[in-house]
Amino acid sequence: MAEAMQEEQQQQSLDQNLEIEETNPERERFLLELEFIQSISNPYYITHLAQKGFLDDPVFINYLKYLQYWKRPEYAKFIIYPHALHFLDLLQNETFRESMKVEDTASWVHVVQYWHFHAWSSLHVRSSAQGQSSNIVNGFPSDANTNIDVNRMTTISHGGGVGGVRSGFFMFSRISSQSTRRPLQRWVQNNVIQVRSASTNAGAGQSNIRAIGTSAAAVAMVIGGASYYLYSNPIHANMVDEGLHPPAYPWSHKGALSTFDHASIRRGYQVYREVCSQCHSLDRIAWRSLVGVSHTVEEAKAMAQEFEYTDGPNDEGEMFLRPGRLSDYMPRPYPNDEAARAGNAGALPPDLSLMIKARHGGADYVFALLTGYVEPPAGVHIREGLNYNPYFPGGAIAMARVLFDGLVEYEDGTPATTSQMAKDVTTFLCWAAEPEHDERKKMGAKAIIILSALFALSIWLKRNRWSVLKSRKIVYAPPRQ
Ligand code: HEC
Repeated sequence: MAEAMQEEQQQQSLDQNLEIEETNPERERFLLELEFIQSISNPYYITHLAQKGFLDDPVFINYLKYLQYWKRPEYAKFIIYPHALHFLDLLQNETFRESMKVEDTASWVHVVQYWHFHAWSSLHVRSSAQGQSSNIVNGFPSDANTNIDVNRMTTISHGGGVGGVRSGFFMFSRISSQSTRRPLQRWVQNNVIQVRSASTNAGAGQSNIRAIGTSAAAVAMVIGGASYYLYSNPIHANMVDEGLHPPAYPWSHKGALSTFDHASIRRGYQVYREVCSQCHSLDRIAWRSLVGVSHTVEEAKAMAQEFEYTDGPNDEGEMFLRPGRLSDYMPRPYPNDEAARAGNAGALPPDLSLMIKARHGGADYVFALLTGYVEPPAGVHIREGLNYNPYFPGGAIAMARVLFDGLVEYEDGTPATTSQMAKDVTTFLCWAAEPEHDERKKMGAKAIIILSALFALSIWLKRNRWSVLKSRKIVYAPPRQ
C-alpha cells in the first residue's frame, strides 16, 4: 500500500518535472545550444556545415561568436566533449572555416585529434612529473607543441594537398617523440658543435682528420636517425589504410595470473555455432577440444553427432557418411574456398581458429570490429555489397554486421546484447587460438615460484657453505725440528 503511494508520488513529481521542461524556453535553449556546441567536436560535422554554406553566413558566424559564452566555467562544466570548445575557437577563424569545406581537412583533423588524444595522457603525465606546470585550456594542454593552432591549419589550405598534410603530421609526430628528440638534440650539440670548433683549429693535424671523420659519422648518424624517425614513425599511420586502433578492453584473462572465463567460452561457442559458423570455418578445433573446457563429454559427443562426416572407404571401396565423433574436427560451412567466395560476394570469410593471433590488436580488434559497424561518415562512399567499419583496414568490409541484440538465447540467462555476444565469441576465439593459455600461465607461475625458491637457496648455499670453502686458507706448517 505504502509502496503504491510512494510510486504515485514519484510519478507526480516526474510529471511536474516534465511540465517544467516543456514550459521553460530558457532551459530548452540551453539544451539546444549544449547539443549544438557538442556536435562541433566532430570535424565531419563542421565540414557538413561548411559545405552547406552555413559557415559563410554572417548571421551564423555571429552566432558562433555568441556561443563563446560556453567557455565560462559555469557553462563549460556541462560539456562532455571539451574539445568542442577548441573547435569553437578555431571556427572563429575565417581560414579555418574556409579550409573545412574540404573533406580531406576534416579527415586530417580527425586523425590529428586521434593522435593527440593518444599522446596526450602520456605527455601530460610526463610533463607534470618533470614539475612543469601544464596548463590545460579547453581540455588541451596549452603547450605550444600540442595545440592545434590556426596557423598550421592555414598551411594546409594554402599549401594544399600532401605537403600541408605532411607538415601537419610532422607537427604531431613531434609530440610522441619529444622524449627521443631531446637527447638527440643534446647529442648533436655536444658532438657536431665540438667537432666544428675542432676543425677550425688550423694546426690540428691528425686530430683534425679524426675530427672530420667523427663529424662525418655524426652527420651520417643524424641523417640516418632523422630519416629512421621520419619514415618509420608509427605516427604516420593512416587511419583509413590501417583502420582505427581498437581500445584496450579489460579482458578477464588479461592478467598474468588470470585464466579464461569458461562460462564465457561456452556462451561464445554458442554464438560461433549459431552465427559465425554459417560463413567461417574453425579448422583447428576438434570436438574433443571442448571437453573439460566448456562442455562435458556427453554434450560434446551429442553435438558432434549432429553433423555427418565422410569416412571410408568401406569393404566395398566406397566412401560413406557417418555421424561425427569426438575426434572429428569442426565441420566447414563451405566445401572449399571457391564456394565460400561465391557465397560471400567474392570475399573469403577467413578461418577463425587463429584469428586472434593473426590480427594486430588481437581480441581488442575482433571485439571492436564486431561492435564497430556504423554509418559511413559524410563523404565516405562504400561500394555496393561492402560495409563501413572504421576498425577494418580500409574501412570497407565484406562482412555485414552480424550481431544484433537478442540474436541468440543463452542457456544461463545472460542477456544476449550485441556487446555481450561479441565479448563471448571473442573470448571463445581467444581460447581457440590459444587452448594452452590457462595451463601456460599455471606452469609459468609454478616455474617462477620454484625457480625463485631455488635461487634463494643457492644464495644461502653460496654464503654459508661455499664461502667457507672459498675463503679458507691452507697453510703449510713445516714440522718443528
Ligand atoms: C554472412 C557471412 C558471415 C558471418 C555470419 C560472419 N562473417 Fe565474419 N566475415 C565474413 C566475410 C565475407 C569476411 C571477409 C571480409 C573481408 O575480407 O572484407 C569476414 C571476415 C571476418 C573477420 C576478419 C576481418 C579481418 O580483419 O580480416 C573476422 C574476425 C570475422 N569475420 C569474425 C566473425 C565473427 C566473430 C562472426 C560471428 C559473430 C562472423 N564473422 C560472422 C562473413 C561472415
